[in-house]
Amino acid sequence: MQKTVTACGAFDTAAAQKIAQQILRNPDSTLCLATGGTTAGIFARLAALKQVLALDCTRLKCINMDEYVGVDRGDPASCYYRIVRDLYAPLGLRGDQFYVPVTTAQQAQHERRRFAERLLAFGGIDFMLLSIGQNGHIAFNEPGSPFGGRIRVVDLSPDTRTAKASLFGGVEKVPRQGLSLGIADVMAARRILLVANGAHKAGIIRRALEGPVTPDVPASVLQLHPDLEVLLDEAAAGEEPA
Ligand code: PGA
Repeated sequence: MQKTVTACGAFDTAAAQKIAQQILRNPDSTLCLATGGTTAGIFARLAALKQVLALDCTRLKCINMDEYVGVDRGDPASCYYRIVRDLYAPLGLRGDQFYVPVTTAQQAQHERRRFAERLLAFGGIDFMLLSIGQNGHIAFNEPGSPFGGRIRVVDLSPDTRTAKASLFGGVEKVPRQGLSLGIADVMAARRILLVANGAHKAGIIRRALEGPVTPDVPASVLQLHPDLEVLLDEAAAGEEPA
């Protein structure tokens, strides 16, 4: 595991540079990028880097790791809406270059197969940008999720629903389920960059990276990944600014 700690203000740029390096190294890469508060600033920096570096994104493929169940794609809280607006559109990706699962209440269970088929068709994941929930979840794999789990519909924990309340305008409006890659799918990514910023993530980062490997802390499984890089800002690393 390689761990880098940045100054708080340098976090987004450092993460975006690592994604840009992956695209430069292999413009045919399949990327899987987490949506959320942690990555929104990273996406903005990556969109800017595309212009500065004249990054070739025409052969890139992107697959999302999860989506809320029962949320319309036109809803600004959906993963689809946010990642298309914040990243796929600015990178100029065509519709055939990316996949976000369709998770209307009727569709979510059926979508599992299409999700798995698209993952296979994209050749698996070369590079995954992963964030972590304060309860240690990765994608929507909540504490207790099996390490061997594959794509499935999962119940969101009360902790996760509380953490996402502001996104949906109230905890009661946060969906109760998500469609998500399983932990085995996450571990199958060839390279993982785990990112966390803010003091509220310091405790869980320590448990995930230094504590026992246990389904109680899903992110702890990442200690076993053969190509894991961790990028933290000083607050998430629990370090005092210099
Ligand atoms: P956040 O979410 O980036 O909004 O903190 C992380 C997560 O839920 O995995």
